[in-house]
Amino acid sequence: MMRIGMLTSGGDCQALNAAMRGVVKCIAHSGAEVEFYGFKNGYRGLIYSDFRMLTSKDFSGILTKGGTILGSSRTPFKTIKEPDENGLDKVEAMKQNYYKLQLDCLVVLGGNGSQKTANLLSEEGLNVVSLPKTIDNDLWGTDMTFGFQSAVDVATNVIDNIHTTADSHGRVFIIEVMGHKVGWLTLNAGLAGGADVILIPEIPYDIGKICDAIQARDERGSRFTIIAVAEGAISKKDAKLSKKEYKEKMANYKYPSVSYEIAEAIQKKTGHEVRVTVPGHMQRGGMPDPYDRVFASRLGAEAGQLILNKEFGYMVAYKNREIVKVPLSEIAGKLKYVSPDASIIKEAKMLGVCFGD
Ligand code: F6P
Repeated sequence: MMRIGMLTSGGDCQALNAAMRGVVKCIAHSGAEVEFYGFKNGYRGLIYSDFRMLTSKDFSGILTKGGTILGSSRTPFKTIKEPDENGLDKVEAMKQNYYKLQLDCLVVLGGNGSQKTANLLSEEGLNVVSLPKTIDNDLWGTDMTFGFQSAVDVATNVIDNIHTTADSHGRVFIIEVMGHKVGWLTLNAGLAGGADVILIPEIPYDIGKICDAIQARDERGSRFTIIAVAEGAISKKDAKLSKKEYKEKMANYKYPSVSYEIAEAIQKKTGHEVRVTVPGHMQRGGMPDPYDRVFASRLGAEAGQLILNKEFGYMVAYKNREIVKVPLSEIAGKLKYVSPDASIIKEAKMLGVCFGD
């Protein structure tokens, strides 16, 4: 009898359930005798021994279901080695609970921080297989994460809807897209939605350049301008600040987010009426799109196969249109940024998109 533990960690996204279903279906289909244990709310469930046994019923009808049937939480890697408020050694507790349940493998569905903890547990001797989730698509070692395409769909839909009202009112509209450190989601939703300006963390912006782009549109007779802004967009000026100086600026920051700072500056410089729309967590919600259902199912099947082959210490990943396995030790702690020299950026610029640089 094989015993497999499973958890979903960090910010949720679409297709978490589809991916878990993929793992379970693959192993069940092989005819192996297996028990699945679901840890509730991410690593918290593994730390505090909060789990339930999962049956085939749990996995029925969840291919299209958003969220995660296990619940999720953020358990920052930064503090994972620090004792909790009651002095509990979290890493030791996770190991003990794994051994108590006599697990053969722990399956982790997570983003960057969760993969670091998965690697730590693997280095501590647990059998771990992980799957790449996040709407940010910022995981190193994989061309694609599940959840990303569905989030692109949601954010694009928001930009599409804003387009019509921006046109009616002749306004400048800012749509703030998720992504504090990387701009994949903003870049793709921005291009798909025909944004005129796209601001991402990897390309610091000059507010003057953005206003120039708006004025050029005015001169061409365009009634509106659409600006897709990543949560982590940063001005050239701020990008030059030291960490300490930037922290100080943010401590006294009067805006709810960078989009409002940009909106005020545009309004002052151009006299245009500017509105900000923040779809926020909507981007992580709802059904996975067909792409993510297929992709997460494939990743799940390949993760299941790794477990059957007793190949541990890997994340299943997507490279050059193939599903591959990447050692957890190779991916932990690295982010996949948008390169300002990437061809997608060059092509967007050929289309006339302004990145504020
Ligand atoms: O999970 C990724 C992400 O959605 C980011 O795009 C976003 O910046 C962050 O999580 C939001 O985190 P939280 O759900 O903790 O507010």
